[in-house]
Amino acid sequence: MEKATVSIKILRVEIGKIKDNALLVGFLKDKLSFDVELKKLDSNLNGVIGSYIKNGNFKGESGEVKSIFTNKDIKSIVLVGLGEEAKYSLYVLSNAIADASKRLRDNGTDSFSIFLESFNNGKFADEGLVEKVALSSLMALYKFIEYKTKDKDKAKWIKKITILTNSKQSFDSEIRYACTVADCVNKTRSLVNTPPNVATPRYIADYAKELAKQSGLRCIVFDERQIEKMKMGCFLGVAQGSVQKPRLVVLEYDGAGKRQKPIAIVGKGITFDSGGLNLKPYPYILNMKDDKGGAAAAIHIIEACARLRLPINLRVITPLCENMPSGTSFRPDDVLRACNGMTVEIKNTDAEGRLILADALAYAAEQKPQAIIDIATLTGASLIVLGNVGTPFVCTDENLRKKVNNASVKSLEKIWELPLWQEYEESLKSDVADFKHIGDEGEAGVITAAMFLKNFVKDIPWVHIDIGTTVWSKVDKGVLTKGATGATVRLMMKMLREWK
Ligand code: BES
Ligand code: MN
Ligand code: ZN
Repeated sequence: MEKATVSIKILRVEIGKIKDNALLVGFLKDKLSFDVELKKLDSNLNGVIGSYIKNGNFKGESGEVKSIFTNKDIKSIVLVGLGEEAKYSLYVLSNAIADASKRLRDNGTDSFSIFLESFNNGKFADEGLVEKVALSSLMALYKFIEYKTKDKDKAKWIKKITILTNSKQSFDSEIRYACTVADCVNKTRSLVNTPPNVATPRYIADYAKELAKQSGLRCIVFDERQIEKMKMGCFLGVAQGSVQKPRLVVLEYDGAGKRQKPIAIVGKGITFDSGGLNLKPYPYILNMKDDKGGAAAAIHIIEACARLRLPINLRVITPLCENMPSGTSFRPDDVLRACNGMTVEIKNTDAEGRLILADALAYAAEQKPQAIIDIATLTGASLIVLGNVGTPFVCTDENLRKKVNNASVKSLEKIWELPLWQEYEESLKSDVADFKHIGDEGEAGVITAAMFLKNFVKDIPWVHIDIGTTVWSKVDKGVLTKGATGATVRLMMKMLREWK
């Protein structure tokens, strides 16, 4: 299999002195001026850049990418529009670098250089800039071709990216951070993109074991019999309709002293969500392989933490199973008992995610972590609240909320909090069991799902992130490519890196 490995290097040299296929130069719309270095380069090129802009061929609009072919040491100068100065941000920068990287690759270029200073405009710290440039291009250049057999050798890849800077800093740690996070985002995407006939619970458990071996993590895989012993009746209820047996994977990383309580991350791992007996009709049943997005993210978040040797202790817990209709399926009206003893009345077998999470969250709470984070493709209603722009979350703790919001700004992953008002509890009341697992149809679906989960985390600070929508992209734009997005990996890494 052909694999894309992009190498990223920092080079301290004048832009006029390099040899490469292309040089990316950023321009704000309202500042199409040249600094000393660029002036020198332009005059070496007989003023082609200046006259190209003067003739109105490039305006610096956000999203604009224009190439000037020189056939000199730098074969083409690529002008990248950054839009208005007042609106310029790391987010704009990230999209600009991403789109330009893709454009160059698709034109058949296999290496390019980036004139870093032209993307700064006195706005950002160099460290942040280097990290975002590297991360954005590596994410943008991701392609999933595992299951293509035709024309594989014709696939285009960028092999080398050079970041040109005058700064005396090494940027080693920024590059290492960006490369590790990008790799883990992209591996998350590949696991989620892997078809459901391949990525079964057993496959993902084996995958986690292998990954643990490579990155020095402890890995415990519980099979069906052990899950029965643990009395995880809600998890088993969902799993019982499939011939694919469930697995519970626990990954452990200790980067801090024994006395520091761990942070627990729980990831929903439904390898295919048919809806069960409440079978999803076409076309809603399409793409339900993405229902393992939370588990895939959690597995690679702990991998990244281990590779970066973050000074925290971490536990990842992923319940893995398939939600299928059959003669052995669980049914509406069933009452299931979670491992903490609570009983749940089933109303719709398609609301399966919260059931497997109930047991996994209760298990996490037993480990007495300092915080519990769950990541789950939990509801279609997430599309209603925020569209496909951002990810809704809920949180029970002020300190944790600050951490999440701060990480969102820094990681460029948009998330927004919804309330956990007590009134929502009302709709989960059951006539026969401790509660139902769904609220009233069409009302506050993201929140009522969260309200149900809240019963299983005790009073441990908790954040629930619903990636039902943002796990998947329908467009090829900026750092996104069509398919799985690797949602929450960048966000969580920012949060865990600064964890105090
Ligand atoms: N995995 C789905 C949520 C989902 C749906 C994610 C579409 C992405 C796209 C989840 O298990 C589900 O089916 N949720 C139901 C809950 C309902 C039955 C209360 C939903 O959101 O429709
Ligand atoms: Mn479902
Ligand atoms: Zn689901």
